[in-house]
Amino acid sequence: MSKKAIIVGASSGIGKALAIGLVKQDYSVGITGRRKKELEEIQKVKPEAIHILPSDVTQATATADLDQLIKNLGGLDLFIFSAGVGYLNEKLGYDLENRTNQLNVVAFTKIMSWIIPFFQKQGHGHVVNISSVAQHRGSKLAPAYNASKAYQTNYLEGLHQKMFAENRNIHITDIRPGFVDTAMAQGDGLFWVASKEKAAKQIYRAIKKKKAVAYISKRWVIIGRLLSLLPKGVYKRL
Ligand SMILES: NC(=O)c1ccc[n+]([C@@H]2O[C@H](COP(=O)([O-])OP(=O)(O)OC[C@H]3O[C@@H](n4cnc5c(N)ncnc54)[C@H](OP(=O)(O)O)[C@@H]3O)[C@@H](O)[C@H]2O)c1
Repeated sequence: MSKKAIIVGASSGIGKALAIGLVKQDYSVGITGRRKKELEEIQKVKPEAIHILPSDVTQATATADLDQLIKNLGGLDLFIFSAGVGYLNEKLGYDLENRTNQLNVVAFTKIMSWIIPFFQKQGHGHVVNISSVAQHRGSKLAPAYNASKAYQTNYLEGLHQKMFAENRNIHITDIRPGFVDTAMAQGDGLFWVASKEKAAKQIYRAIKKKKAVAYISKRWVIIGRLLSLLPKGVYKRL
């Protein structure tokens, strides 16, 4: 029987590439996002293996929608949270900061608080979140984005520790991309930009190996380490 996965935020970008990659590996995949048309286009890749459900993860109906998607799939082995927003917000407009937090922090937490008990009850499962290399330091350009990603990685580490302490057969994977060629990658001076397909392949390998943390593409681990090591006095001048 094929394995079953859900990807929240799969109407474009990394989530879409992952959905297409997973069906090629014989997964049945349930995909969500707000844009119905985009989801319908992706479903055409392999209609018998792709279940779609347009859903806004920041809305109160989000977990009921996902319960329905699990029913449509007939079970769940792998859950991927790839929904995310981030805005360049040098003026610190609260609306943009709040939109980032509502998805990357509030909805993310709601979904983690729903999926972990589901997998605990089932006795097995794998939770994957797409955070970012940005989680390593603050940002003068997009303060809420970097802070929200730091929240996610810290939260995932807590979940990882909790699953270990409880001796659960539940794996937690924190995916930390650098730049990936999607609508999300904004601004000048981008470098080491990975294609969505390359990113999806590396993420799939990390999932198969049940890695706790993976940088995408792999060399971004160097930037992650450098960012962590940079003294505040140097970092503030960048
Ligand atoms: N691209 C990069 O360079 C990069 C680097 C580091 C980390 N990341 C992270 O990777 C993740 C995926 O981003 P991406 O690069 O693939 O960008 P993307 O193409 O913009 O994908 C974002 C996805 O999130 C979904 N989404 C946004 N708001 C949503 C909501 N309220 N409810 C449900 N789904 C929602 C979007 O679907 P709808 O608009 O249809 O709702 C879309 O499918 C994000 O968490 C991002 O922070 C990206």
